[in-house]
Order: sequence, then structure tokens, then C-alpha cells
Amino acid sequence: MNNTTQDLLAAYDLKKEYTTPSGELEILKGVHLTLEPGEAVYVFGRSGSGKSTLLHLLGGLDQATSGKILFEGEDMTLLKERELARVRNRRIGFVFQSYYLLPELTLYENVLLPTMIAGRRNDKWTKECLKRVKLYSRADHYPSELSGGEKQRAAIARALANRPSVVLCDEPTGNLDEETAGIVMSLLEDLNRREGQAFIIVTHDEALAWHAHRTYRLVDGILIPEARGPVNVEKIS
Ligand SMILES: Nc1ncnc2c1ncn2[C@@H]1O[C@H](COP(=O)(O)OP(=O)(O)OP(=O)(O)O)[C@@H](O)[C@H]1O
Ligand SMILES: [Mg+2]
Repeated sequence: MNNTTQDLLAAYDLKKEYTTPSGELEILKGVHLTLEPGEAVYVFGRSGSGKSTLLHLLGGLDQATSGKILFEGEDMTLLKERELARVRNRRIGFVFQSYYLLPELTLYENVLLPTMIAGRRNDKWTKECLKRVKLYSRADHYPSELSGGEKQRAAIARALANRPSVVLCDEPTGNLDEETAGIVMSLLEDLNRREGQAFIIVTHDEALAWHAHRTYRLVDGILIPEARGPVNVEKIS
């Protein structure tokens, strides 16, 4: 596979194995994946196929057994934990199925926090992020006061806080009903179309991928690229 300089993120021959009492478990058996700036890429796969594992590797939350991950030209697999934490905080946004908002902080504080951790507190941008997800009027509310869909929108605002190059989403609608899931996916679509925000979205729900530049399918530890555009998207730029 070619590494073109325009890849934002590229994984090569990524393997993940677990040693268990009953032997070696090969979860990822040599995965290749690329993401260009501005792309929304989906990864489908059944429960247990390794989608979260893959996303955690790509985001530097877990270590691959072998393989290479180039993020903006830098090999993430060679970074020390401190440097990796910096990349995660500043250049990668995460959205998880269960939101992971801090319950003792308001929405505003939840979104502001990553900018403070990065040492560049940015109140103006925090407000803007909350406006983008249409939660500015709820800025002083606590997560417990929000619906599931609102919590996920707040989590998306938080993911945008440091203007990441890519947002990695793990089943972002997994806990939402169909209608609310549609609202959250529309928001992601809008951010991709209007702002050119790059996304990798893993999900078992293929119906949600109506806005994808490319899709992959994870089967038996192998990532299979699918035909471009099963969905209604015109490529940005
Ligand atoms: N620490 C671990 N030790 C052993 N096996 C593990 C470990 N973590 C994950 N696995 C296994 O790796 C496989 C992939 O898990 P993963 O969570 O990536 O799947 P998934 O595709 O995200 O599933 P889901 O759709 O249910 O979220 C599963 O079979 C899981 O049991
Ligand atoms: Mg998962």
C-alpha cells in the first residue's frame, strides 16, 4: 500500500493479539487503513470483530502487537507515552458510545477542560463548539440533566475542543434511539461537510453510514475496503 503524503492517518499491517489462558487471540491480523484530510470513513463489523480495538490503536489509547501507524507523517507506534498523550489531547478527538462526560462538571467545563489540559484555555472556542452542537443554551447544565442525544452532542463538542485533525467515533449512536441517532449522525455529517472535519466512525449499524467517503468492513481480523460511496456523498474539495 502506498503512503501518499496526503494521508492524515495511515495504518500498515496492524496486528493485535492477546495472550489468554486458552492461548493466543489474534484480533487484528494485519490491517491497512488510510484516511485523507476531510474524509469521513466508516468501519463496519459485527460485535466482537475488533472495531473498538482498532479505534483504540489508531487513537493511541492502546498498543499494537506490531505494525505502523502514521499520523500526520509521525509514527505513533514509536512515541513515548508522554508524547502520545500530547498527540491524543491536541490532535485527536474521541467520541464513545457512553459519552464519558465528567458528571461533576457543567457542559461548558467539560468542553473547556481539554483546552486547559493542552495549556491553551480557550473560552471563545468552547462557546463556539457548544453552539455547533446546539447546546449553548445548556452550557451551565450538568450531564445528568441531559438526554442521551444531548450528552452525545456534548461529547462531540468536547471532541472538537482542541480543533483535532481527526475525530474517532466508537459506536457514537449505540445508546440512542433511531431518531436521536439520526440527529447525532446529521451533526457529524454537517461538521464533515461544512468544516471538512475528518472522521473515522466504527459502527455495527450500517444504516447510519449515509454520509461516508469510504467504508471498510472488519471480518476475521482483516479490514476489507469496500467500494467507494455506497452512500450519497460528493467528495469535498
Ligand atoms: N484485554 C483483552 N484480552 C483478551 N481479549 C480481548 C481483550 N480486549 C478485547 N478482547 C477481545 O477482542 C475482540 C474484539 O473486541 P472489540 O471490543 O474490539 O470488538 P468490537 O467490534 O468493538 O465489538 P462491539 O461491537 O461489541 O463493541 C473480542 O473478542 C474481545 O473479547
Ligand atoms: Mg466496540
